[in-house]
Amino acid sequence: MSRRLAKSVGITATGQFYPDRIVTNHDLAKMVDTSDEWIISRTGIKERHWVEPGVGSSDLGAEALQMALKNRGIAADELDAIIACTVTPDMLFPCTAALIQHKVGASKAFGFDLNAACSSFLFGLSAAASMVASGAYKRIAVVGCDVMTSITDKTDRNTIVLFGDGAGAVIVEEVEEGFGILDFEQKIDGSGAPYLCMPAGGSLKPATAATVAAKEHFIHQQGQEVYKRAVREMAEVSRLMLDRNALDPKDLVLFVPHQANNRIMEAAAKRLELPLDRMANNIMYFANTTSATIPTAMHQCLEAGRVKKGDHVVFAAFGAGFTWGGMLLKWAY
Ligand code: UT7
Repeated sequence: MSRRLAKSVGITATGQFYPDRIVTNHDLAKMVDTSDEWIISRTGIKERHWVEPGVGSSDLGAEALQMALKNRGIAADELDAIIACTVTPDMLFPCTAALIQHKVGASKAFGFDLNAACSSFLFGLSAAASMVASGAYKRIAVVGCDVMTSITDKTDRNTIVLFGDGAGAVIVEEVEEGFGILDFEQKIDGSGAPYLCMPAGGSLKPATAATVAAKEHFIHQQGQEVYKRAVREMAEVSRLMLDRNALDPKDLVLFVPHQANNRIMEAAAKRLELPLDRMANNIMYFANTTSATIPTAMHQCLEAGRVKKGDHVVFAAFGAGFTWGGMLLKWAY
């Protein structure tokens, strides 16, 4: 059975922001034992953007949100809420949503952070849509923002090549009947926790000199386990979105997978029998920006004129937890 919202709710504008500094594979090859050839062939990544010291997720998120507000033609004080989706909050508290709220001047908004790793944006979007569909809120900003370089070990070739910094934002509102979010599915399986995590810095293992020395404040990943599960779950949940809404892969104008690895994305598209020109793909220039991959990839496809009103679009995400999910939209503008 589809998960239907009580009202037609959808995305009405998008925005994005990346820091200026571009780090190429060749730059990384000077820092760790890697090569442009290895990184391109294993991940599809050529370069990524990195923040300068002193820049936090809220800085990137506020910029992306400003663009989304401008594209929608509304002022920040017309927002009812801000959901900041991030695994790299500026601080553990206060929440990044509060910092973004202050930076953009969203004087009437409340807000909170949502962390479901690389599924954060998707889960945040469905939460915002459900809040609007309830009738209690009119207009919510969902901001996916991450400074992944703040939790990556710059001496670890296994992870340093994979991630980038960036932010994407969307405005969620009631839309014309029959348009917007048609269906979504979300999953969580905590047995996957050991495969992708940051072991210290939380309540279980607070920061000590020993945790810092053991590099436990960085991303730890068993890549192959994550890889296999990501392909399977993203393909299955996307297929579910099509099947239970009686759509054929050829009805899909755009597939927007979480951008973690080009091979994962292409394998998922292949399982969906979807031609690759129907897939959003920005990993080559931005790498894995965690919560920002889906909103930025969607924003770039809109800018390129790849989607028009009425087109069917599927979002799919997979991340630490494990968490994963899919969403089917009939584009509303
Ligand atoms: O967004 C959150 C979800 N995350 C993901 O979806 C990531 C999923 N996993 C992956 O994308 C891939 O598993 C990786 C890109 C992380 C790794 O690719 P792989 O094909 O699974 O490689 P591997 O882990 O099997 O490593 C193969 C070899 C190893 O060397 P040995 O042990 O065979 O001698 C690694 O040490 O490649 C080595 N290696 C590297 N070599 C050069 C790992 N990283 C690098 C590197 N440069 N940067």
